[in-house]
Amino acid sequence: MAQTLPIAVRVRAPGKINVALSVGPLREDGYHDLATVFLAVSLYEEVAAWPARGFTVTYGGSVDTSMLTGDDTLVHRAARLVAAELSAEQRAVWGIGEGGVPGVHIAVEKHVPIAGGMGGGSADAAATLLACNALWNVGLGKERLWELAATLGADVPFALQGGTALGLGRGDELTPVLAGGTFHWVLVPNETGLSTPAVYRELDRLRAEHVVPNPDRAAVAPEVMTALRSGSASGLRDALHNDLQAAAFSLAPELETRVRQFNLHRDAMVTLVSGSGPTLAILAPDQIAARMLVADLRAQGLGAIEVVGPVHGAHFVHEPDEDDLLA
Ligand code: C5P
Repeated sequence: MAQTLPIAVRVRAPGKINVALSVGPLREDGYHDLATVFLAVSLYEEVAAWPARGFTVTYGGSVDTSMLTGDDTLVHRAARLVAAELSAEQRAVWGIGEGGVPGVHIAVEKHVPIAGGMGGGSADAAATLLACNALWNVGLGKERLWELAATLGADVPFALQGGTALGLGRGDELTPVLAGGTFHWVLVPNETGLSTPAVYRELDRLRAEHVVPNPDRAAVAPEVMTALRSGSASGLRDALHNDLQAAAFSLAPELETRVRQFNLHRDAMVTLVSGSGPTLAILAPDQIAARMLVADLRAQGLGAIEVVGPVHGAHFVHEPDEDDLLA
């Protein structure tokens, strides 16, 4: 039976913050054992893919993408992984081009800060996996997509899954966590990014020099789960924690000053470094407080963004067709 193939597909994937991030010992594979709680937030990357001659990727969006060059970004790698799953029959249909990939153009619209500790690159990779799977009609199921995601990076499976999840191992062994409400946050991106491996290395150094505690295992406080389950912002304020915060402060001391300053604001409950930083995430008690905070921070010249979480993981964006527009 003839199949109707999509002309183009569009997928959105969310950025994340870690409301708990406990870092255990360094493992032999260069990763650290983690116990973390991811929260997907309403700042999205959008990936569109359509058939084209050659294999090209372009970047645009509200963040400066000029440093994203070369042909081995996470987006290229995700597309190649999906292409490698095509059957011989599908290969014959599509005609395999450069690097084993059917001719495709992938346009990435970025809104999550780059090197900001919010998993923007992971969201791009997750969205690309979904987009190529649909565009080429590969038919990969959820499990296979999850496996491919984990080979691309520790945070990529969560960008597929979204919501709220406990991440163990490298952070990619996920269990959904019940969240009984919506949490309001204000994000403050930093002008310059921090390299994730550099932040982990700095934490190892601070631990070796006994500047910060050196736990023998990673663990999330049960109070974090309780606060999420009950949708309690004040519970979350008292429970959230990020082991990477000290390392991010050590590499970018201005962050600590900002956190102190933000915490004095009457609409801020607490400020947290997002993942490995340097984006700061301020928890607000409600939407009105978040809006006030954004207005005040913008008046100070800071690029504050209001978001909520949890939100869904990578998902297709429906393009309205003519019938929808006429209805
Ligand atoms: O998997 P991903 O490419 O996102 O990880 C980037 C780097 O962050 C790793 O190469 C490693 O240095 C550090 N990392 C870590 N332990 C983790 C996750 C990341 O040390 N669980």
